[in-house]
Amino acid sequence: MCSSFAIPQAVEEAALHLKQGNLVAIPTETVYGLGADATNEQAVATIFRLKGRPSFNPLITHFPSKQAAFDHVVANPTADALADTFWPGPLTLVLPKKKTSPLVPAISAGLDTIGVRVPAHPITKALLELVDLPIAAPSANPSEALSPTTVAHVRQYFSDNPLLAQILDGGPCQSGLESTVIGFDAEERAVILRPGGLSLETLTNFLGYAPGTPSDSDPITSPGQMLRHYAPRRAQVRLNALDVGAHEALLAFGPTTLTAPLMLNLSVTGNLDEAASHLFAMLQELDASGAQTIAVMPIPMIGVGVALNDRLRRASVKNPSLI
Ligand code: TXA
Ligand code: MG
Repeated sequence: MCSSFAIPQAVEEAALHLKQGNLVAIPTETVYGLGADATNEQAVATIFRLKGRPSFNPLITHFPSKQAAFDHVVANPTADALADTFWPGPLTLVLPKKKTSPLVPAISAGLDTIGVRVPAHPITKALLELVDLPIAAPSANPSEALSPTTVAHVRQYFSDNPLLAQILDGGPCQSGLESTVIGFDAEERAVILRPGGLSLETLTNFLGYAPGTPSDSDPITSPGQMLRHYAPRRAQVRLNALDVGAHEALLAFGPTTLTAPLMLNLSVTGNLDEAASHLFAMLQELDASGAQTIAVMPIPMIGVGVALNDRLRRASVKNPSLI
């Protein structure tokens, strides 16, 4: 911990809550997380309960440094190089769990691996250093719902729930899309388990090969990639819209002549990073406006556009309760 900076009181309070086994919502550069002590069985169970998360979906655990993270996993040279280059940042590495690791089994959801990440947000970095505990944190939304990129989103989901002790305010999340989750095949080659803030192009450049991707039908390597996910509460989502219907809200991307009474633009200039940082908040806003359907203009499959399209495709899967 850097002693020349005063630790905000809210961070001290959060550390205390975590040590007592309570849940705290934490800001990261990607999305807000629902944090708990990853070595406390009761606390981890409360995460699953509060989110309504199926027990087969493992949690990411957050650490202040690569060294702290790698105390719990068996790394390999590629994982080591990825961590050196992209941490702190939007990268989660799924690696075999060391037998000596005190992380509770529920984190791994029956697998023999754990997902580890070093987040970049200064407030959560300070918290991780102060509390000196690994923090398990899935995104701070009910299972399947849109991910939270502001404190207001977290409050909307959980503020009246006594299971959440505190929400740490770190402002709007900078990148707005969850971390890229990477696992390794038998030859220790990287495989993308979930596209995210770290793009395929950047990874391919770094690795010298294009990492593979598992299919939706592979539940073992990709338990969190449920088809319906990141979904608005009420509205249906229509993808690749080239027009807009009378009762539709429009989620535009780039310069466009399309208009609608209810319309937001992910990025007027067509900047994918800007679009990523707006995606969840704009879907929330259009959903809250009462539109039955949100028509989304096409988004190119380059850079972070791959992760944007992944989230939108899952958001568009019809809600069984609405059919
Ligand atoms: O950016 C992020 O990753 C955010 C912030 C809070 O760090 N967290 C996040 O967590 O998105 P969550 O729980 O919403 O998504 C975690 C993803 C899921 O798809 C899960 O299946 C996958 O990571 N995952 C975690 N541990 C895994 C493991 N051991 N094996 C395979 N996939 C794993
Ligand atoms: Mg999530």
